[in-house]
Amino acid sequence: MIYTQKQRTLMDLWKQNKLCRLNILEGSVSSGKTWISLVLWAFWVATMPQDKLYLMCGKSLTTLKRNCLIPLEELVGSSNFTFSLAAKEGYLFGRRMLLEGGNDARSESKIRGLTLQGAYCDELTLFPRDFFVMLLSRLRVPGAKLIATTNPDSPQHWLKTEYIDRENELDLLDMRFTLDDNTTLDPDYVDSIKAEYTGVFYERFIRGEWCLAEGRIYSQFDPAKHIRREGPSKGRWYISVDYGTMNAFSAGLWRYDGETAYRAAEWYYSGRKTRRQLTNTQYLKQLQYLAGDRPIEAVIVDPSAASFIAELRQAGFTVRKGKNDVVDGIRRTASALQQGKLLFSPVCTDCIREFGLYCWDEKAPEDRPLKENDHAMDEVRYFVSTIMCGDIHYHAVKGGI
Ligand SMILES: Nc1ncnc2c1ncn2[C@@H]1O[C@H](COP(=O)(O)OP(=O)(O)OP(=O)(O)O)[C@@H](O)[C@H]1O
Ligand SMILES: [Mg+2]
Repeated sequence: MIYTQKQRTLMDLWKQNKLCRLNILEGSVSSGKTWISLVLWAFWVATMPQDKLYLMCGKSLTTLKRNCLIPLEELVGSSNFTFSLAAKEGYLFGRRMLLEGGNDARSESKIRGLTLQGAYCDELTLFPRDFFVMLLSRLRVPGAKLIATTNPDSPQHWLKTEYIDRENELDLLDMRFTLDDNTTLDPDYVDSIKAEYTGVFYERFIRGEWCLAEGRIYSQFDPAKHIRREGPSKGRWYISVDYGTMNAFSAGLWRYDGETAYRAAEWYYSGRKTRRQLTNTQYLKQLQYLAGDRPIEAVIVDPSAASFIAELRQAGFTVRKGKNDVVDGIRRTASALQQGKLLFSPVCTDCIREFGLYCWDEKAPEDRPLKENDHAMDEVRYFVSTIMCGDIHYHAVKGGI
């Protein structure tokens, strides 16, 4: 095994017995945190008592398997590490290891009552704070340790304010990794990852900074680059919908050739502005008008609009419920804009207007857009997350693509 310099520094701390109770490896994507955290975890566990209990957790069991369990198996060999997701347990050098997903509302109760010698957490900022607090209270035997990795988030995130910022008061080691620390990567690959992120996501995922999501969300939207009179001559047609009765109803007509999506037209209606609400049947008529005689592959709809979804299906449309993970969707949309894969006809005036106005809620403790000027923005995001996401060149580990 050949370590990068940063990784060697960490392993030297372990050898000199200078690890802390809480050890957090944070920083940019692909900076080698997970790889070295697994090496460290395996070496450390192997020196710890065999009759004690250990825990490995990720945002979900699926991401834990993909990000950690399979790489760990590759690192130490399947004779030293075996696991079963169904049984939610594994054995590492003969030590029993519980496996858990931290984002499950019931996960906190599952670790209640345990006594752990060690815990490993992947992508720690994605865990609920209560789960983490409970986890720390379970690490109650002498020499118990936590090893965790994470990308940075908002500077107001609980992990930053309550733990990392208090490094000097707590028994906590915080080690920061940057993309350039990972000297095992091909420079072309590094360039391509850098090009995938933009705005606040670039600051966090490439530069490794805990920085606030502030100001305009899609600052990379540039009329000169993204507004085009002509769309592609090939491709399938889709309609994306954000449903509203008092709030605006927004629909976009898209042509997508598997590479680039062109928003050819839109229909935007504000019941509040016009003081006249429309019925589902009237909305349906407008969508049929927007579709014209084009074959519509699918209508991607706000997942909460149950009655309208039923109406669309009855009228013969194929409906797909929009994937609604807001921040992941924004990240994908920003990435698609950055890569020039989202283009807009000048007739999409309300969508273009919202691009200029859509802002982060700077007072919120976590990343959250202000709930205004967000109707077209929501359906653009549903379209990108549901239809395009597998086709955007996007760092595979993030966002669960
Ligand atoms: N010392 C090393 N030797 C060989 N390959 C390495 C080494 N360190 C890291 N890598 C490889 O570099 C890539 C990125 O490393 P890793 O997954 O650990 O990054 P990360 O910091 O956890 O990123 P993310 O924030 O995206 O989870 C992986 O493919 C990993 O196998
Ligand atoms: Mg990782």
